[in-house]
Amino acid sequence: MKILVINGPNLNMLGIREPEIYGSATYQDLVDIIQREADTMGVEVSFYQSNHEGDLVDAIQQAYGKIDGIVINPAAYTHTSVALLDAVKAVGIPTVEVHISDPDTRDEFRKISYIRAACKATVKGKGFAGYLEAMHILCDSN
Ligand code: DQA
Repeated sequence: MKILVINGPNLNMLGIREPEIYGSATYQDLVDIIQREADTMGVEVSFYQSNHEGDLVDAIQQAYGKIDGIVINPAAYTHTSVALLDAVKAVGIPTVEVHISDPDTRDEFRKISYIRAACKATVKGKGFAGYLEAMHILCDSN
């Protein structure tokens, strides 16, 4: 089982950005936690982070035929990007949407998720643990 973990804009700033919402742990801490869990689960995991919408679309397309499941936190593009929705639909790879916070309880504009329609599940408001839960959802249904 090969899982790709994709993180969108500003998630490289974890630990610095709004720690009261996202916590004080860094993006590298997130990668380490996911890698440890993947090792325990016996799955192969790879990581991609970009601040650029088109690069995220490219990463999803490049996963076609190579990756069995995608864990994606599209960050702000959750609420704006039809392109990411279309990319997930195009490749047909089982995908779980993750958010560190719970966007549904924050600003009105965060309540819309375009990508959700193409995802098998959404895990939100559980901090970094949400990424681990998403990997388990993908493995359990594989
Ligand atoms: C986020 C929530 C989004 O609304 C926000 O734009 C982010 C992070 C989260 O992980 O809680 O950048 O996806």
